[in-house]
Amino acid sequence: MTKTVTFMTRNFNKYDVMSIDEYIAIGGFTALKRAITMDGEDIAREIAACQVKGRGGAAYDMGKKWSQARSEKNPEKVIVCNADEGEPCTFKDRTLIQNDPFNLLEGMIIAGYTMKAQNGYIYMREEYSHLRPILLNAIKQANEKGYLGKNILGVEGFDYQIHLYSGAGAYVCGEGTALVESIEGKAGRPRMKPPYIKQCGLYNLPTCVQNVESLSLVAGILNNGDTYKSYGPADCLGTKLVSVAGNVNRPGVYEIPFGMTVREIIYDLAGGVQGDRDIRLIQFGGASGKIAPASVLDTPYTYDDLKGAGVGVGSGAILVVDERTSVIDFLTTTQQFFSHESCGQCAPCREGNLHIKLLLQKVKAGTHTASDVKLLKQIAETMMITSLCGLGQAAQSALLAAMKHFPQTFEVK
Ligand SMILES: Cc1cc2nc3c(=O)[nH]c(=O)nc-3n(C[C@H](O)[C@H](O)[C@H](O)COP(=O)(O)O)c2cc1C
Ligand code: SF4
Repeated sequence: MTKTVTFMTRNFNKYDVMSIDEYIAIGGFTALKRAITMDGEDIAREIAACQVKGRGGAAYDMGKKWSQARSEKNPEKVIVCNADEGEPCTFKDRTLIQNDPFNLLEGMIIAGYTMKAQNGYIYMREEYSHLRPILLNAIKQANEKGYLGKNILGVEGFDYQIHLYSGAGAYVCGEGTALVESIEGKAGRPRMKPPYIKQCGLYNLPTCVQNVESLSLVAGILNNGDTYKSYGPADCLGTKLVSVAGNVNRPGVYEIPFGMTVREIIYDLAGGVQGDRDIRLIQFGGASGKIAPASVLDTPYTYDDLKGAGVGVGSGAILVVDERTSVIDFLTTTQQFFSHESCGQCAPCREGNLHIKLLLQKVKAGTHTASDVKLLKQIAETMMITSLCGLGQAAQSALLAAMKHFPQTFEVK
């Protein structure tokens, strides 16, 4: 039977999450103590050697991002921990905050040291407000013990503070530039790029935005990089948190070594499909991710293999939809989400989502024509290349994949 691993989840249930002393007793802050003896560039190199790609969805090389952030000349810099986790079916960051908040903080402090930042901001979605006391307590205790504040651990000039911000419930605020607008107290709408956030982000300072899972990997990698590298195939090292939901028997968050097949994740870890039904489709990476039929089951879960199969890792979500739901009903639900969450700032996304919604209604009613189907595809492709931010660019991923894998859904009667 395929099993989960415990690299990122090694501290779960091992200490009282309200007690920094208990975290220290199980080896907490040893990675930070090692980090402050190192040059920042060497820290970035160790992360790069583990091939870590950001876990928020875009899979940007993390070691490279840290090196780039270090090379920014501005003496003031900012780290942002993206805990917005708004992507439907994604709930792994919540698990990390809930079960190992000090490990996340340690990763953020090491990020601050590496990039010579003075402030770190955790931006957490409003729906996770029940986790605020855990993080506020962790920040308070870290200050009391000298892991935050001035001259951290006696290192002259290593002054760093962490602040907690709550979002107001908009999916688009997970996008880096909308997120910083929101922290600045403005409406959370994406900015035009360039300038890029890494040069001019929060309060116009160079800003390094990193997902909760990405930052939660840092301490483990600095302490036990070789263990991390012992997991996964040579071209996709390490472990990953996946959140599996939908019509499975055991929905939940699982830490897997890269390379496990999708079938092992769904059937061995998540207990298979409810009632042993057939799978209609599987969506990878949340509502903005692509879908595939059950033929994807034997694909190893790696960035390249999933891409080769026409899907992707994205946020790490795996949504299993069984035969009871039709493809058009699935697409209609996804579409409603994007129509609701579009911030309306740019026309391709604002108008495109609306028109796609109307055309999908026709497909569902069976009153569509061949030119409606052509238009549906044209609008989806136009949105992908002309929308201002990733929301509009990825909103129709599922629709375009459905047109490829399930052409019968769009057949004109
Ligand atoms: C509409 C939209 C929503 C996003 N939501 C999140 C989110 O909730 N959490 C997250 O970490 N990244 C999210 N991202 C990706 C971020 O813009 C960014 O790439 C990420 O936080 C960088 O961290 P990483 O390199 O560690 O993945 C979103 C992007 C878009 C376009
Ligand atoms: S793509 Fe959509 S969410 Fe992004 S800026 Fe344009 S309207 Fe707003």
